[in-house]
Amino acid sequence: MRYTKLIITTLFIVAITGALLSLRSTAASGKRVTQSRRDGAQAPDHGKYIGSENCAECHSAESSFYQLTAHNKLGHDLPKDRQSCEACHGGARDHVAYYKEVDQLLKGGKETEATALMNDEARLTAAKMTSISELSPTESSQICLRCHEGTQGRSDERFNYRRSEHFRNGVACVDCHSSHSPKRLEFLLKEKEPEGCYKCHADQKSSFQKPFHHKVPEGGMKCSDCHNHHGGFMPRNLRNTVTGDMQCVKCHADKQGPFVYEHAPIKVEGCQACHTPHGSTNPKLLTRNTVKMLCLECHSNAPGATVEGAGIGPTTPSFHDINSPRIANCTTCHFEIHGSNKDRFFR
Ligand code: HEC
Ligand code: HEC
Ligand code: HEC
Ligand code: HEC
Ligand code: HEC
Ligand code: HEC
Ligand code: HEC
Ligand code: HEC
Ligand code: HEC
Ligand code: HEC
Repeated sequence: MRYTKLIITTLFIVAITGALLSLRSTAASGKRVTQSRRDGAQAPDHGKYIGSENCAECHSAESSFYQLTAHNKLGHDLPKDRQSCEACHGGARDHVAYYKEVDQLLKGGKETEATALMNDEARLTAAKMTSISELSPTESSQICLRCHEGTQGRSDERFNYRRSEHFRNGVACVDCHSSHSPKRLEFLLKEKEPEGCYKCHADQKSSFQKPFHHKVPEGGMKCSDCHNHHGGFMPRNLRNTVTGDMQCVKCHADKQGPFVYEHAPIKVEGCQACHTPHGSTNPKLLTRNTVKMLCLECHSNAPGATVEGAGIGPTTPSFHDINSPRIANCTTCHFEIHGSNKDRFFR
């Protein structure tokens, strides 16, 4: 009996290990496949990289501006395909050779030959550099992601771009960033926040124009205080937990607790159980226009209650005549509404 058990157990373990191993190897090869696809299906042809010293002769504007940007750190210590201009635009051997040849013919007065060369489709195609603005969002972002994935610069900034709603909806790095003509040199932004975001998020613009709002339009805070538009693990491109707790308590630490007496929804559903994050016509960014309506959403199945259905909290005690003005303003008595260390009923 014992032996049969032992044999069965051993067989079971062997089977499981086998299955796990085969899973692991598929995962590993899958990773390898995506890895090579990420770096561009064709491995870079190093012979095409000639260095970017020549570019300034013909592209003086891009070249001199480039020196001011953070990308001027792409220096000679890196592999050839990651240095300077060629890091983004690809190998320039044929490009430089072609345009120098055209230049020389023109300077030597050989106009016909120059025109012939300029009409040589094959040479022209071979001489074409990668033009990032002509690529699809995925292709162009892929170029940036060769270097910008994982943790960058400031350590709190995680790049999980492929997970972001932006990547998945065809928004490219270069929709927000410009290498050569940004409005703001720092972070190479095409447009600073929040204007850059409003271009595509008009609804949020109008939320922030409501009478009660976080001071984003006034410059007191940024969209990126709460969102990681570069992608993380949260829905809505949020910076931390699903409910938004973490970004909220970064600034509203007093609402976090722990309290001896917690108000359950804060821990369960988060701040959004009662507040809208952007802006609202209701004071204190509440989801309802009066405090009473908000509370009764969860604390009522009493007759006369204006909100339908029983809530998830205990019903209000019988001495609460919720239609009387004395009771209607719930937080005059339950003022520690986010939690209390003194009183179970948040008074
Ligand atoms: C001898 C002059 C010359 C040199 C040197 C030169 N380019 Fe160009 N480049 C041109 C011309 C001319 C064009 C075409 C412009 C047009 O069609 O509007 C061009 C176009 C480009 C384009 C747009 C895509 C294309 O191919 O049409 C990129 C990107 C570019 N160059 C990058 C570079 C980089 C990076 C270097 C240095 C490694 C470089 N160029 C060196 C003359 C030059
Ligand atoms: C970090 C990536 C990056 C690097 C490095 C870079 N560029 Fe660009 N380049 C771009 C992007 C993106 C554009 C599209 C316009 C923009 O965003 O400003 C562009 C546009 C251009 C253009 C206009 C033609 C076109 O393709 O739209 C030229 C010419 C050019 N770059 C030359 C250069 C030269 C010369 C250097 C080096 C001094 C350089 N670039 C370095 C990303 C880069
Ligand atoms: C070959 C590697 C490489 C590629 C490709 C690359 N970058 Fe960078 N990028 C860097 C490095 C290195 C820095 C400087 C980081 C630092 O300062 O610590 C940087 C910095 C930046 C910054 C921050 C600028 C600042 O002021 O702090 C932005 C924004 C940026 N890159 C955007 C892009 C975009 C958009 C693309 C694609 C068009 C791109 N990068 C392609 C290597 C790269
Ligand atoms: C929706 C707009 C948007 C998109 C898309 C976007 N960025 Fe950014 N990026 C920003 C903004 C805004 C900042 C500045 C954040 C701040 O002020 O803290 C920034 C900052 C950065 C920085 C500097 C980060 C640091 O903490 O030093 C880098 C690097 C960068 N972006 C690269 C990229 C790359 C690479 C892509 C594409 C894979 C990309 N961005 C896509 C808007 C965007
Ligand atoms: C105080 C933190 C905070 C700030 C600041 C903030 N957001 Fe949000 N945002 C949130 C939270 C939390 C959600 C999730 C709402 C939900 O799921 O109910 C959200 C949701 C969104 C959504 C999804 C649609 C929606 O409205 O629910 C978009 C788009 C968005 N934010 C864009 C922006 C833009 C653009 C800015 C700056 C102009 C911005 N946010 C500023 C916290 C913030
Ligand atoms: C080029 C257009 C564009 C720009 C610029 C842009 N976004 Fe977006 N954003 C989108 C698209 C498209 C989506 C996905 C569809 C949607 O939910 O609206 C999206 C989704 C989002 C979401 C997630 C919404 C959800 O429902 O899950 C947030 C949050 C967000 N963007 C914030 C920002 C912030 C912050 C900025 C500025 C730094 C910004 N966006 C700039 C186009 C843009
Ligand atoms: C970057 C800091 C910061 C973050 C993150 C933040 N807030 Fe605020 N919040 C403030 C500041 C500052 C004020 C007060 C000034 C004002 O009116 O904007 C405020 C005010 C409020 C108010 C009171 C508004 C009023 O009318 O009195 C509420 C409610 C609020 N925040 C909820 C939230 C919620 C919910 C979140 C998360 C989704 C959040 N906050 C995230 C900084 C922040
Ligand atoms: C159960 C509903 C509820 C939840 C959940 C909730 N709040 Fe509140 N909050 C309120 C009410 C009601 C008020 C208004 C109190 C008043 O008017 O006296 C308020 C007011 C505020 C204020 C402004 C007044 C003050 O005390 O500073 C801030 C800031 C605030 N809440 C932040 C938060 C944050 C951050 C969270 C998440 C950690 C959160 N709230 C979760 C109900 C809630
Ligand atoms: C999203 C639902 C929700 C909202 C909105 C809400 N509550 Fe609660 N409340 C609860 C839940 C759940 C409990 C915990 C019940 C338990 O522990 O059994 C609770 C507990 C309480 C308690 C303590 C009851 C006890 O027996 O310990 C009081 C008092 C209270 N809430 C008052 C309020 C007031 C006042 C408001 C309006 C500002 C409000 N609540 C808004 C869900 C909510
Ligand atoms: C005049 C002060 C006052 C006002 C205003 C008030 N309450 Fe209360 N509430 C109390 C007291 C006192 C208790 C505790 C009763 C006890 O000790 O059993 C209580 C208890 C509660 C409880 C807990 C019931 C239980 O059985 O656990 C809930 C829920 C509640 N109130 C909700 C509300 C709501 C919703 C409003 C607004 C419509 C409100 N209260 C307005 C004084 C008030």
